[in-house]
Amino acid sequence: MQVSLSICEIGSCFLKPGSPVVNITRDMLKETPVLDSVVEETLHLTSAPILIRAVLENLSLKMANGREYTIRKGDRVALFPHVAVQMDPEVHPEPHSFKYDRFLNQGGTKKDFYKNGKKLKYFNMPWGAGISICPGCFFAVNEIKLFVFLISCWFHLIYIKVESSILTFSKHLSLIFSD
Ligand code: HEM
Repeated sequence: MQVSLSICEIGSCFLKPGSPVVNITRDMLKETPVLDSVVEETLHLTSAPILIRAVLENLSLKMANGREYTIRKGDRVALFPHVAVQMDPEVHPEPHSFKYDRFLNQGGTKKDFYKNGKKLKYFNMPWGAGISICPGCFFAVNEIKLFVFLISCWFHLIYIKVESSILTFSKHLSLIFSD
């Protein structure tokens, strides 16, 4: 169902061998809110990067729960947002279920996410964050969308229910110290 919804966003078609080349423009790929949500939900469930940062000066790192860590210059800090954010049921209800429209409002606009009543800036972090956020993210998403669209046009797809498990991780924030 998700795939057919996505195709409708670009233009419904099924191609036979010998059909003319399909021309999909960047503008067309920008107007696919449902497919965007599908890709984001896929990454929400499956991507689990560890973000490592070098500490350049002594500082105190405050957590949302009030805990505070003293970090020294020269330390390395490793953050694991898959558990801390992406699988937090308060941010994402039923975090382990695939919900193709998790990131969409009813009108097709992007949804906001909250924790303890506060709107979150970071609610899904497959690309990391900050200065070293993945510079290939736009390219990667467009390639994925193009792949989904073309494969849906050129092949008859049959849905087969396969029992698969989603990655699970224990809940902790890793802090790696230099000594
Ligand atoms: C689904 C596909 C991809 C995912 C999930 C992904 C994810 C990530 C993540 C998590 C980081 C680390 C960000 C951080 O430390 O905050 C990263 C860094 C990076 N990615 Fe990607 N990436 C993807 C595809 C790509 C592609 C297609 C390219 C290039 C064409 C690319 C180029 C890079 C580069 C150069 C960095 C290092 C950035 C830096 O350290 O300044 N990535 N990526």
